[in-house]
Amino acid sequence: MAKTEKVVRVSVTFPPDLLRDFDEVIRKIGYENRSKAVQDAVRLFVSERKWLQEEKGLQAGVLMLLYDHEVRGLEEALTDVQHDYAHIISSTMHIHLTERECLEAIAVKGDAGEIRKLSDELSSKRGVKIMKTMIVSL
Ligand code: NI
Repeated sequence: MAKTEKVVRVSVTFPPDLLRDFDEVIRKIGYENRSKAVQDAVRLFVSERKWLQEEKGLQAGVLMLLYDHEVRGLEEALTDVQHDYAHIISSTMHIHLTERECLEAIAVKGDAGEIRKLSDELSSKRGVKIMKTMIVSL
């Protein structure tokens, strides 16, 4: 980082329960403030996404998402997206976790770019809380 580069202040909103969980986790780890923890979390997100974006060729694996099925229209939207990518989806397993939360494991095999597009379309929907991709190159 150049000496002249200053930090930039941004404002973000959090659902209260997410912020509570975040604060608890960073307190246990020993972070002194939220800024450093948020920077580390964002850095991890960026590096993971960058890595996924640079992959090419044939891949296979599982996309795992945790979502709130009470978010209006979400379940239908997730199904619509999966129908659009039926050519790379081998199967989907749906688990009703709690009253509100569902876990979906989507087995995929196909072009890296297609898998990435599917992953992006699913993870960017409001109500999707966690999206993990476990992908191997073939
Ligand atoms: Ni469910």
